[in-house]
Amino acid sequence: MCGIVGYVGPGDTLEVLTSGLKRLEYRGYDSAGVAVLDDYGEMHVRKRSGKLARLVELLDDQPIAATGTGIGHTRWATHGGPTDVNAHPHLGDDGKLALIHNGIVENFAELKAEIDAAGIELVSETDTEVVAALLGLEVSRTGDLETAFRAVVKRLHGTFTLLAMHRDDPARVYAARHSSPLVVGLGDGENFLGSDVAAFVGYTRRAVAVEEDNIAIITPDSVRIIDFDGAPVSFEEYEVAWNTDAADKGGWDSFMAKEISEQPDAVANTVRGRVVDGHIEIDELTALGDAPLQAIDRIIIVACGTASYAGQIGAYAIEQWARVPVSVELSHEFRYREPVLTDRTMVISVSQSGETMDTMMAVKYAKERGVTTVSVCNTQSASIPRESDAAVYTHAGPEVAVASTKAFTAQITALYLIGLHLGRVRGTLTEADEAAAILAFESLPGHVAEAVATHEQIAQLAHWMADTRSVLFLGRHVGYPTALEGALKLKEIAYIHAEGFAAGELKHGPIALIDHGQPVFVLVPSPRQSPVMHSKVESKIQEMRARGARVIAIVENGDTLVLPFADDVIRLPLVDSIFEPIVQVVPLQWFALELATAKGLDVDQPRNLAKSVTVE
Ligand code: F6R
Repeated sequence: MCGIVGYVGPGDTLEVLTSGLKRLEYRGYDSAGVAVLDDYGEMHVRKRSGKLARLVELLDDQPIAATGTGIGHTRWATHGGPTDVNAHPHLGDDGKLALIHNGIVENFAELKAEIDAAGIELVSETDTEVVAALLGLEVSRTGDLETAFRAVVKRLHGTFTLLAMHRDDPARVYAARHSSPLVVGLGDGENFLGSDVAAFVGYTRRAVAVEEDNIAIITPDSVRIIDFDGAPVSFEEYEVAWNTDAADKGGWDSFMAKEISEQPDAVANTVRGRVVDGHIEIDELTALGDAPLQAIDRIIIVACGTASYAGQIGAYAIEQWARVPVSVELSHEFRYREPVLTDRTMVISVSQSGETMDTMMAVKYAKERGVTTVSVCNTQSASIPRESDAAVYTHAGPEVAVASTKAFTAQITALYLIGLHLGRVRGTLTEADEAAAILAFESLPGHVAEAVATHEQIAQLAHWMADTRSVLFLGRHVGYPTALEGALKLKEIAYIHAEGFAAGELKHGPIALIDHGQPVFVLVPSPRQSPVMHSKVESKIQEMRARGARVIAIVENGDTLVLPFADDVIRLPLVDSIFEPIVQVVPLQWFALELATAKGLDVDQPRNLAKSVTVE
C-alpha cells in the first residue's frame, strides 16, 4: 500500500506534495513524510507517525524554504511499526539522497547484511532504509544516480515503487516500479509522479502509466522512461477522466457519505453507452470477437473483500443470462491450489483500485495459462486492466473512503452487463429478458436514489443501537452475498463483530447465536416475484423472533407479510429480484457509517486498513 508523490518544477513544492498526499492518504495513514531541497541545495526531511495533519503541523513548526524538487510519502506499515523513525523518506549516501517506497523488499535480510558489513548504521526497522543505504553505496561507487538506481532495482525481490532524489542531481526525481503502481503527471514546465493520478490531478490531467519494470526520470521539462537495463521505452499519454471536484467531499461530513449518495450516478454512468439499439453491447468484449465468448465453458471470478461479494452477486446473473457455470474465488486462494484452467475458461477479475496485489497475481497466473482475462475495474489504466485481455470499466468516479460503497454497486452493474452481453452473443438470452433488463437499468438510478433517502431512518436506528456489540445479517440467493457485504462494512468501520449468513443455513448452526435482543438485519426477497423464497425467509424471521432476536427487516414497499414479526422495517422500492442487492445494500452502508459515527470513529480511515492493498 502506501502513497507516493514526486515533483519537479517551479511551483510551491511543499504545497504540491502535501495536497497530493492528502488525496493519497486513503492508501495508508500510519505516517507521512516529505524530503525537499532548499535554496542551498541541502536535503531536508520532515516526517511523523500518524495522519498527514501531524506532518502539516510539523511543517508549520519547522518550515523549509523548499526549491522545486521533492518527494512525499504516506505509509501503511509493513516492515517496522508506525513510528516517526520508521516513517519515509529514508536517507542514504550520508544524507545526500532521500528515498520513499511502496511495497515490500523480500530479500531485505540479505541486503541488510551487506549494509552491516559496509559499517553503515541504520536507524529504522524498515526494508526501505536498507534500499536507501544500498543506493548510497552504489552512488559512491558509480558517481551517477541513474546507473546506481538501475543497479539497485535489479537486485530487489518483492514489490516496489521507489522514488529517489539526490542533492547532487537537484532537478531530477527517479522512480521505478515492479508490481506496484506508478503514474507520471505531465505539466507545463513541471512534472509529477504518483501512486495514482489523485496525487497530481489538482495540477494536471495529462498522465502516463509507467509499465512494469520500468524507470521514469522526471525533470521540469522532460520525462524519460527506460527499462531496468537502461533501454529507452516509448510511452503514450492519456487524459484523466475526473477532476479534483470528484475527489473532494462536496459538503458531506465524510467521503464515505458522499460516495454512498453518489450511487445513482455510479450505476447510471456504468450503464451509459452500453445499451445500443435496444441491445447490451460492451465494446471491450466485442473487441475480443464473438467466437471466444461463444466457446467459453466456464467463468471464474477472482476478487477480494467487497469486490468478491460483487462477484458472488454477479455470478447469479451471469449464469442466469449466459448459461455458463460461474464460480467465485478469493484471488489469494485461487492460484495456490492449481485450479483447472483451459483455453475455454474465462477469468473475470473485479477490483475497484485495479492494483490489489492478490487479484493482480491471480490474473497473471490465469494469463500465463492461456485463459481469456477480463477486468472489471474503476481506475483508469490501473495495473490489472492493463494486464487483462479486456477491461470493462465501472464509471463510479474516484472512491476515496477506505470502505467501498459506490464501487460495489457499480461492480454489480458491470457484471450484469457482462452477463447480458455474453447471453446475447451466446444466444442464451431471450429478447424479452434483455428488454426487461434494459428497462430495469433505466429505472435503477431512481430506485437507488430512494434507497439513499433511507439515510435519516437508518441514522436513528444506528443512534439507538450505538452500544451494540454484535450484529447478524441474513439473506438468500443474491441477498446472501449482500448480507456478507453488510457485515463486512460494519466490521471494517464500526469495529463491531458482524456476520452474514445464508438464511437457509441458520438452522445448521448459526441460530445458536440468537439470544435475547440480538440484532439481525434480514434482506427479505420480493413477495411478488419470489413468493417461495419470501415465505422461507419469513419463517426464518419467525424462528429468530421466537428466540428473542431483534429483527430489522429490509423489505420492498408494500410487503406487509413480515410486519407482524419485525421490530423495525426499512422499505425499499420495487425492483426486479436480481437487482435487489443494488438497492438493499444501501441502508446497510448507511447503518455501518452511522454506527461508526455514533461511536466517534473516523469512517473514512478505519484503523489498520488501507484502500489499495498492494501487498500479498
Ligand atoms: C471493503 C473494501 C475491501 C476491498 C478489497 C478489494 O470495503 O474496500 O474489501 O473491496 O480490498 O479491493 P479492490 O476492489 O481495489 O481490488
